[in-house]
Amino acid sequence: MKLGFLASHGGSNMQAILDGCDDGWISATPAILICNNPNTQAVERAQLADLPVRILNGKTHPDPESLDHAILDALTNARIDLIVLAGFMKKIGPLTMAAFRNRIVNIHPSLLPKFGGQGMYGLRVHKAVLEAGEIETGATVHLIGSQYDEGPILQQATVPVYPGDTPEALQLRVLDQEHQLYPDTLAKIARGEIELP
Ligand code: GAR
Repeated sequence: MKLGFLASHGGSNMQAILDGCDDGWISATPAILICNNPNTQAVERAQLADLPVRILNGKTHPDPESLDHAILDALTNARIDLIVLAGFMKKIGPLTMAAFRNRIVNIHPSLLPKFGGQGMYGLRVHKAVLEAGEIETGATVHLIGSQYDEGPILQQATVPVYPGDTPEALQLRVLDQEHQLYPDTLAKIARGEIELP
């Protein structure tokens, strides 16, 4: 199973998956990172891991359709089987969506369907969780559908919310769980324990 990562910032989830592949407990081969932002830790991490990187964004391809085409071409040329969204903050174009139907996984830092949707990313998610007075939050790995943070849920992990938590503290606690949940989900997909439609 060849993996194609799309990331925008830190790439810590991608790193957790790269480590799992390297250690051999995820039977998958990372094949490419596509990043919309050249100056990110995600790019540095990929370079350190000898993972080919392509920078594709609105500057390299001002026309959204040509950007979608370029992303699809890069993934197809790398012969990837599964797109792994790892903190990718852009919408996937319709060509890529159609070519990889039911083959795009995403991680979101809440217990979807709660606290998902447009504008719900980063600290905003954790602020909203605290404002709602939740006593539990978590992370969700899901297939992507046509809307933001939608599509069949593959696995979730819960994380407690403690009195006095700040959004930053909650973000770190959830991210720590993400680093276990995402590699575990991919290992199960590779072993056929989680079947994609
Ligand atoms: C993660 O917390 C991920 O769940 C979130 O972005 C962060 C990326 O961290 N994704 C979303 O909010 C998607 N809606 P990373 O770049 O260090 O993996």
